[in-house]
Amino acid sequence: MKHSFKEKMLNLLSPSLGRGRRAAKLFSKFLLLVCIAFYAGTVFGQRNEYNLIPLPQSLKPAAGQFSFNANTSLFVDKNVDVRVTNTFFILKEQLKTAAGIKLAINNLQSSNAIVFKMNKHLPKKESYKLTIDKNSITVEARESVGFFYASQTLRQLLPAEIESNSLQTNIQWSVPCCKIDDTPRYAYRGLLLDVARHFSSKEEVMRYIDQMAFLKLNTFHWHLTDDQGWRIEIKKYPKLTQTGGFRNRTLIGNYTTTNRRWNDSIVGGFYTQDEIKEVIAYAQRRFINVMPEIELPGHAVAALAAYPQYSCSGGPFEVEGLWGVFNDVYCTREETMQFLENVLAEVAGLFPYSYIHIGGDECPKLRWSRCNACQERMHTEGLKDEHELQAYVVARIAKYLQGKGKRIIGWDEILEGGLLKKGNDAIIMSWRGEKGGIAAARLNHDVIMTPNSHLYLDHFQSKEPGEPIAIGGFLPLQTVYGYNPTPDSLKQAEAKHILGVQGNVWTEYMNNPKHREYMIFPRVLALSEIAWLPQSRKNYADFTQRLTSLLKHYDVMDIRYSKAYIKQQSK
Ligand code: ACM
Ligand code: ZN
Repeated sequence: MKHSFKEKMLNLLSPSLGRGRRAAKLFSKFLLLVCIAFYAGTVFGQRNEYNLIPLPQSLKPAAGQFSFNANTSLFVDKNVDVRVTNTFFILKEQLKTAAGIKLAINNLQSSNAIVFKMNKHLPKKESYKLTIDKNSITVEARESVGFFYASQTLRQLLPAEIESNSLQTNIQWSVPCCKIDDTPRYAYRGLLLDVARHFSSKEEVMRYIDQMAFLKLNTFHWHLTDDQGWRIEIKKYPKLTQTGGFRNRTLIGNYTTTNRRWNDSIVGGFYTQDEIKEVIAYAQRRFINVMPEIELPGHAVAALAAYPQYSCSGGPFEVEGLWGVFNDVYCTREETMQFLENVLAEVAGLFPYSYIHIGGDECPKLRWSRCNACQERMHTEGLKDEHELQAYVVARIAKYLQGKGKRIIGWDEILEGGLLKKGNDAIIMSWRGEKGGIAAARLNHDVIMTPNSHLYLDHFQSKEPGEPIAIGGFLPLQTVYGYNPTPDSLKQAEAKHILGVQGNVWTEYMNNPKHREYMIFPRVLALSEIAWLPQSRKNYADFTQRLTSLLKHYDVMDIRYSKAYIKQQSK
């Protein structure tokens, strides 16, 4: 029998093949496949991966990579304002620190460069286009914010070591070739941080803002006041922070009505107005609006501990160390209204964003029903019950802030008492499910969806033992991802009122940044994708695949995250 050269070779390589031709043939096929795969690997390079969150609206993969090196520069065409390159400040800093690559500006050569182009034809101010080929990266945008988002996309496409604080060697600093054409689904993409229940330092807030920027979220809702703490310096009322900024005790463990245990340490803190300005400037550079929330007329015990004269009963009160809803709220008498207006005047002067959140949720009416001043107010204003009194307070505050060029946002309780029928342009934040948001949209009012069923990131994300303490509820990653902020039941004209979507991080049970990170990550990545990507493009299996790769960036950033979704997926 004549043996081919290949068979001879195979016999030499593997004595076991002597047992028959079939085995030899199989092995030869296998060897051939290995050779083809090896050849393809060297010629075409590795198959490109695009682990982006949020996924761009359109992503066309291409072969090959663009590699950054010491000569890579920023190319700015003559008709482009060179300042747009400042939007790349995070990426520039990271390339310098982690890769040792300094991106200098040039206007001579567009190869081995990031090329900046203005494109007035893109659909939204946040839209951008990114064309990565082997010789250059072209970024097109209509406004600075689009360039900024392009830089964050590039950052996600780079190896995870780009997040490192120190020089990393032996890394191929390349990004996969592709064409991206991107634009967000919603204009409002928010994340709330409650700094009243547990205070976060200015630096922690900045880190939070950094994380938002990475995911193209654009509104930081800063929950600055509540029963358990007042966190913003108000010059006219210094006791708000001196007294209201600190509490003497805090409940240990989950909420109970009996056998409560207390931590007797004094805890708290506040931001000076200068610090607030620093945070706003920090966020602005990252194209994030900062929206303050000053709770009224409920959730006011910390303020009333400082100024009990603005309550119905006169106090005294202590800053709360317990969670929940409390009967002592702001009185509706004139002195209190003026106090609130004075506070808001300082807040309006401090925050450039055109919206101020005034709370409006969970305001018990008990004290008002027994207060002569409040009953008198109801009588003189012709209000039939305490719900209308609440609407009166909110409408008056809205009008006052309108005079300062601001529009109010409130929790969905502000729908009660007929507020919107009074020609008010308040925006509704729907938290008790979607029904408040749906009702408001049907009344032609703007809405932000943040239903506790899908976007309260203080709920448990796993039912496994060993999870850290949480408020309750069960909100796995897949449920967050599955949320569609524009309910199918809305007609097209009504649906236009859904401005966007927000995740809420209430901190009763998160008393340190690592615990908070664990609750937020990875669910905030799902939030970012539902805020950005049209419903029809969402795909949970694809999302988790991208997520698992992108988590390498979070590892380098030293962010703590939950892996519960992996086990949940395999069930
Ligand atoms: C809220 O969760 N009380 C808005
Ligand atoms: Zn009163």
